[in-house]
Amino acid sequence: MKEYQIAVLPGDGIGPEVTGEAVRVLQAAGERFGLQFAMSQYAVGAAGVAAAGDPLPPETRAAVTQADAVLLGAVGDPSLDHAPRKLRPESGLLALRSLLAVYANLRPVTTNPALAFCSPLKPEHLAGVDILIVRELVGGLYYGEPRGKDNGAAVNTLRYTEAEVERVARVAFGAARRRRRRLLSVDKANVLETSQLWRETVTRVAVDYADVTLEHAYVDYAAMRLVTDSAGIDVLLTENMFGDILSDEAAVLAGSLGLLPSASLGDGPGLFEPIHGSAPALAGKDVANPIGAIASAAMLLRYGLGLAEPATAVEQAIAAALEQGARTRDIARPSDRMIGTREMGAWIAELVRSPARRPLSLVR
Ligand code: IPM
Ligand code: MN
Repeated sequence: MKEYQIAVLPGDGIGPEVTGEAVRVLQAAGERFGLQFAMSQYAVGAAGVAAAGDPLPPETRAAVTQADAVLLGAVGDPSLDHAPRKLRPESGLLALRSLLAVYANLRPVTTNPALAFCSPLKPEHLAGVDILIVRELVGGLYYGEPRGKDNGAAVNTLRYTEAEVERVARVAFGAARRRRRRLLSVDKANVLETSQLWRETVTRVAVDYADVTLEHAYVDYAAMRLVTDSAGIDVLLTENMFGDILSDEAAVLAGSLGLLPSASLGDGPGLFEPIHGSAPALAGKDVANPIGAIASAAMLLRYGLGLAEPATAVEQAIAAALEQGARTRDIARPSDRMIGTREMGAWIAELVRSPARRPLSLVR
């Protein structure tokens, strides 16, 4: 039997707790479907700096390039906020994305009527939301050279090539084709040359996807559309920085940043991580919501390993646990019985193993 090699990079803050639960659920999926997962842990972020003086230590680099897929928790630590750039935890994550060349970051956002109360938006804006954000992940302002800061001035460079735009656009069009066949491409072409190139390139690629309806929008208007016409958006394609901002905004629809997963895909091993950060204030308290990490593990099964059936089983287990009333602090009403990170993970794992059984924790 094939043994899938999964490199697990827990990272910082709540990262180890949420990835621990994602690992537990992957093991449950392995048991149910007769799959073998070899999961080894490696340091990244502040944990990498502590272990090896490097936010992406050489051992981690070697492991991720050889793995079948990479599961990451979160990076970030306030104690390194003022460290030189090469020692910042975020530099480890950016270097990891770049090393794996995972240029297409998929961030699905759906709403669940049972969690509508978590969102500040009116319920009518939340019904039927099913958005896939496709964010370019290894180019743009995050990586452009020159960059730097000195003598009271600072510079970052926004540069895109046609090839970089085209490859991520093809991922987005391909995804739209399997969904509702609408693509909203977001740029700032009224101001930026990079956005003009973006728009021209996406328009050219669209010729190969005549069954997909393409619409272009400026990012300011798209930010508004995300909350005023959420159900009208199918696939939203955009560059790195705009995608970072718009995906946090979109999380407001789901009700909690803790719920949302992501898959970062390129031509080698994929990288799977929740979209939330390391949340240092919550770390070590067993309060973080592991669903974003667990749903990322489902994406790992589907896109990273091509295991659609186990992926669906994990997604259904998440939905069933929420349906049965499983609530971590971020998604609980004051009157709800709240559970911790571990109990949420155990609950979902149990539903993966035996979907028909109601977990014991509910029977209390
Ligand atoms: C994200 C995060 C990262 C990003 C940070 C931690 C570098 O906010 O994955 O959205 O900006 O890409
Ligand atoms: Mn972000």
